[in-house]
Amino acid sequence: MIRFDILSVFPEMFESPLNHSILKRAQEKGMAEIHLHNIRDYAEDKHRMTDDAPYGGGGGMVMKVEPIDMALASIVPSRDNALVVLLTPQGETFNQKIAEEMSRYFRIVLVCGHYEGVDERVRDHLVDREISIGDFVLTGGELSAMVIVDAVTRLIPGVLGNYDSASYDSFSTGLLEYPHYTRPGSYRGWQVPDVLLSGNHREIESWRKKESLKRTYLRRPDLLEKIELCDEDGKTLEDIKKNCK
Ligand SMILES: C[S@@+](CC[C@H](N)C(=O)[O-])C[C@H]1O[C@@H](n2cnc3c(N)ncnc32)[C@H](O)[C@@H]1O
Repeated sequence: MIRFDILSVFPEMFESPLNHSILKRAQEKGMAEIHLHNIRDYAEDKHRMTDDAPYGGGGGMVMKVEPIDMALASIVPSRDNALVVLLTPQGETFNQKIAEEMSRYFRIVLVCGHYEGVDERVRDHLVDREISIGDFVLTGGELSAMVIVDAVTRLIPGVLGNYDSASYDSFSTGLLEYPHYTRPGSYRGWQVPDVLLSGNHREIESWRKKESLKRTYLRRPDLLEKIELCDEDGKTLEDIKKNCK
């Protein structure tokens, strides 16, 4: 079971994306809870302002520190077992390893910025971790929060019908996953590899491992530098390299 608290000035953005498919089922089964909070509700001035002009001048507005501080104090007063994350293009780049780390928390609080971003004192004093979903700039942190909720929730045991399907996913093993096929066996002359129709599980397993190594070598050779292969996989990779020259 994992609980997400999402702080945003546009909480309505989350309503539909989080209520379909596996995320919907995870919530219905009580394996995940997603609580949306409007930062505006924590703004105490009479206009309930959540942003203001930047000190020093320049364009755009900056999200104020007080409403975010008030929201966090009310939502996670003790911070026990909670991870408070600021979504920012300047954070560490999100990946499967970070998703796995996050899936071990009981509670994750995601703070979504907007406009020019948030007052620097939020990152200095109020959050535990800063995460980016890639080297590009979005208009707000909401889409990034959805990406994280999705990637983390599917790792919670029991959320996916077959837990194995997450453990073999691309990046979980350090490699890209092998190719998948389903019926029909032949479509417009495009054949499913014979081995997958053979019923021989050992051969299928070995074909999948080889395909996984091959596509990682061809598409993401950088991943191979980060893992240690067993002797047999190392030999298979050497053969792949020779044949791909
Ligand atoms: C327009 S961006 C602000 C960008 C900021 N001025 C900068 O250059 O670093 C507004 C908000 O969108 C979110 N955001 C934008 N790109 C993101 C990314 N790649 N990953 C995570 N959050 C992002 C952040 O919450 C950010 O505060």
